[in-house]
Amino acid sequence: MLNQTVRNAGIVGVGSYVPEKILTNSDLEKIVDTSDEWIRTRTGIEQRRIAEEDVFSSELSARAAMNALKDAGMQPEEVELIIVATITADMLTPSTACIVQHKIGAINAVAFDVNAACSGFIYSLSIASQFIATGQYKNALVIGAETLSKVVDWQDRNTCVLFGDGAGAVVLKATDKEYGILSMHLGADGSIGRNLTIPGLAVEHHEMEKRRPGNYRTLWMDGSEVFKFAVKIMAQATIKVLDNIGLGIDDVDMIIPHQANIRIVNGAAKLLKVSREKIFTNIEKYGNMSAASIPVALHEAVKEGKIRNDDLLVMVGFGGGLTWGSIALRWFR
Ligand code: UT7
Repeated sequence: MLNQTVRNAGIVGVGSYVPEKILTNSDLEKIVDTSDEWIRTRTGIEQRRIAEEDVFSSELSARAAMNALKDAGMQPEEVELIIVATITADMLTPSTACIVQHKIGAINAVAFDVNAACSGFIYSLSIASQFIATGQYKNALVIGAETLSKVVDWQDRNTCVLFGDGAGAVVLKATDKEYGILSMHLGADGSIGRNLTIPGLAVEHHEMEKRRPGNYRTLWMDGSEVFKFAVKIMAQATIKVLDNIGLGIDDVDMIIPHQANIRIVNGAAKLLKVSREKIFTNIEKYGNMSAASIPVALHEAVKEGKIRNDDLLVMVGFGGGLTWGSIALRWFR
């Protein structure tokens, strides 16, 4: 039976893990017709992390999860729910979340994956917080993890310079206090989903035509279409999630955006009329890690002391689907 009291879900632990191997822009100059200058000025990216051949999203997830549990002072057996946001699952089944559950020994946890691409972590946090709000579960481990290096076409300069591998995780717990997740806003528009695709089982002629022969299962993106959508939706989703709780952009202490392109972040900052110091970015180090970008950025912002108790945070993402999502939360540890 569900508990009648609706409770907030607060982040009590945060962790991340990125592979050791670094691929720099100058390394990419040797693979495709590109330049460090183009990548830096058009995207803000300087390097990205690449998982070893036999390392997949579940392994990055498990490591990030253990860091987050340690930060929360919790044992794996205490976890009641695991959600992994990923578009680079190890397998179609079992889910990456089930593999992680086994890897970390979270024997009492329910586990499933969420596929909402770069918005996946925001979608997953929203889902987890509903379970906590209703009293169904007392805590949740929410992970964003990707090994995009395994699905990019390393001959396609339009995409291979953009993406990287990594994982971030948070532990959510119920709280009766006025902190934690205060508001959320999610959206999807499948009619424009073909701007960013990774084929699964369906073999479609028009998707085949977009790719080089023999590279059917790789990531393809119409970058400029996604770019235009992203700037607008990031600003709108930020305003909407604040509007829900009667707050405005001036009330925000820190925005943790999805890290796809520094020009998208700067464009959204301009639309929002918010100072760039209030927006955390680390894209230069990792590139776009899809569902992992926001939790890895959150972890770094916390480690760097950029988030203090009582701060109002907005986490905002957009991506494949196309999807978008934002969460407003009052930080307290
Ligand atoms: O996470 C959510 C999903 N991803 C995104 O949000 C990404 C959104 N899109 C973007 O970040 C940008 O659109 C890109 C970084 C992908 C591209 O930047 P752009 O300023 O929109 O460039 P463009 O697509 O208009 O291309 C400009 C030129 C083209 O050459 P021509 O046709 O003008 O001669 C491209 O062929 O830049 C060329 N180009 C490159 N040149 C050197 C594309 N990729 C590269 C490259 N190196 N890696």
